[in-house]
Amino acid sequence: VTDELAEAAKARLPRAVWDFAAGGAGAEHTLAANRAAFDRVTLVPRILAGTVPDPATRLLGTGMTMPVAVAPIAYLRMYHPDGDLAVVAAARRAGVPFTAAMLGSHAIEDVRPDWFQLYWPHDRGLMLDLVRRAEQAGCSALVVTVDMPVMARRDRDVRNRFTLPDGVTAANLVPAGRARDGGTVAAHTNALFDPAVSWADLDWLRSRTDLPIALKGVLDPRDATRALAAGADALVVSNHGGRQLDGAVPAIAALPGIREAVGERAQILLDSGVRGGLDVVRALALGADGVLIGRPLVWGLSVGGTDGAAHVLGSLRDELCEVMALTGCATVRDARALSTVRT
Ligand SMILES: Cc1cc2nc3c(=O)[nH]c(=O)nc-3n(C[C@H](O)[C@H](O)[C@H](O)COP(=O)(O)O)c2cc1C
Repeated sequence: VTDELAEAAKARLPRAVWDFAAGGAGAEHTLAANRAAFDRVTLVPRILAGTVPDPATRLLGTGMTMPVAVAPIAYLRMYHPDGDLAVVAAARRAGVPFTAAMLGSHAIEDVRPDWFQLYWPHDRGLMLDLVRRAEQAGCSALVVTVDMPVMARRDRDVRNRFTLPDGVTAANLVPAGRARDGGTVAAHTNALFDPAVSWADLDWLRSRTDLPIALKGVLDPRDATRALAAGADALVVSNHGGRQLDGAVPAIAALPGIREAVGERAQILLDSGVRGGLDVVRALALGADGVLIGRPLVWGLSVGGTDGAAHVLGSLRDELCEVMALTGCATVRDARALSTVRT
């Protein structure tokens, strides 16, 4: 489904917008490696389980129909006029959490997301203001992205001199006067972000909010244990969909080491290459509690707005239930106990 949907989205979107969403950093080695690594993970099915699958679970304290949440994605209005509003409606329909991006193109007060994603702007007052707005908008967790001290060079965007289409802005930053005002997306992002963010900054953030914090972009087990010591509640094992360090380890390959390091002290989410229900079970079997879904929702949104995004989540759930049935898993917990063989 995803390949066809991606083709349909590509046919609809302006070339530069497609390149921004589909592309990765550098020579796109990590973008490709994410998929290749998933496809090397084979599952060892269990038999005669005598049950019907129910993938319902809880992540970051939020109940959901399956171990899947919507990944934070900037500027969703580039793909459909309804942007975040369309995807949050699809997420509600599917019973999964929606993560609004700090660089979202609709204001958090209009989206009322389940979770809110933060980057590290130079202006910490702006960051705290966003935390308060997230709290007031009813968000139940923060997803704090730490793999973007600088925005990686993305050759497609450089070639296209990529700027945001008219009418698309970083809506959450508008009152603060930090929405984009001409110039490339890369230039705006790099001017906004603090490249020297450190563990001390995480301590600072931890001391200023009671919301659970999921640290997104963890790939080294040493950072995973340090993050928990610093008060992070959960980890998102991710290489940003191959959009940051080209040559980074595939997230699915880094996952077992991180689970081993943290044990059951924290929930672990994974993204970067999840394309279907099989990948969800692969991630669970390798130690994840759940996954974030990114680009497939961009394609669904591009092709069909809320219905398109809801179709992606509905198909994912159908596939997930089928894979769980075929592996003899009644629950997410059973899937986490599956064995894998790397081929
Ligand atoms: C177009 C696009 C925009 C993104 N914007 C953000 C963002 O604003 N904040 C963030 O933490 N991650 C962002 N990401 C990364 C996603 O949250 C997620 O890590 C990534 O999409 C996973 O890779 P996959 O979509 O290939 O599975 C973005 C990804 C894409 C494709």
